[in-house]
Amino acid sequence: MASVDTITNFLATLSVIVTLLAFHGRAQLSPTFYSSTCPNVQTIVRDAMEEAVEKEARMGASILRLFFHDCFVQGCDASILLDDTATFTGEKNAIPNKNSARGFEVIDAIKTKVEAACSNTVSCADILALAARDGVVLLGGPTWTVELGRRDSRTASLTAANTQIPFPSDNLSTLISLFAAKGLSARDMTALSGSHTIGQARCTNFRARIYNETNIDPNFAALRQANCPTSGGDNNLAPLDIQTPTQFDNAYYQNLVVRRGLLHSDQQLFNGGSQDALVKTYSGNSEAFSSDFTAAVVRMGSIDPLTGTAGEIRKNCRLVN
Ligand code: HEM
Ligand SMILES: *[C@@H]1O[C@H](CO)[C@@H](O)[C@H](O)[C@H]1NC(C)=O
Ligand SMILES: *[C@@H]1O[C@H](CO)[C@@H](O)[C@H](O)[C@H]1NC(C)=O
Repeated sequence: MASVDTITNFLATLSVIVTLLAFHGRAQLSPTFYSSTCPNVQTIVRDAMEEAVEKEARMGASILRLFFHDCFVQGCDASILLDDTATFTGEKNAIPNKNSARGFEVIDAIKTKVEAACSNTVSCADILALAARDGVVLLGGPTWTVELGRRDSRTASLTAANTQIPFPSDNLSTLISLFAAKGLSARDMTALSGSHTIGQARCTNFRARIYNETNIDPNFAALRQANCPTSGGDNNLAPLDIQTPTQFDNAYYQNLVVRRGLLHSDQQLFNGGSQDALVKTYSGNSEAFSSDFTAAVVRMGSIDPLTGTAGEIRKNCRLVN
């Protein structure tokens, strides 16, 4: 009996330690953070996103990508939303964002509505987290509970944006490392890459793949070459998911299995390496994808948030107060 007690005690102590470790850098966000201070925030964001996605389905994708690029640079602190000024260098001109990151006007419009309902209360970082979730749901994807209570940065990092966000030319081991550096597993990385079931990419980001790679369906390569010449047309767009580019589903993984990933980085997930089996699973089991995706996107959303009195609640998402 004494030994059972000892084991019970040991397990209790261990669980406290594990809990403390789990909170480190993951912080005390809560889904009910604004329930008394801005009870309608979720409805306001949802209605605005509905309008934006109805106008242009791609906007759901663009906002989800903004959330990713925000969270991977200094944590989810709305640093990506800051404009460059004469005296401030933001992240909008970083290689992964320039001529590419979009949807800032939608976030501005939501912020204006949220400020009208509850001024100086809801952070731009939380608005982005809610809008990203709503975009996914509006395109037919799974829902999740958004943790809230992030505050906005007073800084941005062009250097971090250029080094910590993955490039489409990256190989599998680099992709795994870049996500590991943010506390995300290879499995999280593969599930989160399923975001490429929606949205578009520019020719400049897939040209080398469609002309020079061998692990690509030749018919698919020819189809994409038709609108992406070997030189020129850098900004010509193609859907990341050839099947259902405005539906958040598991077709992205089905494409990978038949070598129809658009980006080099996409096809790295199914190229004879460690993620092949998981890609196969997701390609045949949309529930498995949805449940891993939602768990991973919540983890991504809790990367290094500013909480308590750190940072600020920006009045205008583009400018520090
Ligand atoms: C795994 C590493 C990743 C790489 C290398 C990567 C790279 C890219 C590139 C190059 C584009 C096209 C940009 C352009 O041509 O203008 C793109 C688009 C996109 N990415 Fe990723 N991405 C990755 C992971 C993610 C993750 C984790 C998410 C979200 C959680 C995401 C969401 C999106 C979305 C939704 C689009 C379409 C955006 C639009 O149409 O406006 N990506 N990504
Ligand atoms: C992946 O890319 C990195 C950086 O370019 C390189 O050092 C590494 O050797 C590559 N790994 C493989 C397995 O090709
Ligand atoms: C294909 O690879 C060759 C040899 O590395 C390179 O010279 C050429 O520019 C590449 N073409 C494209 C479209 O990336």
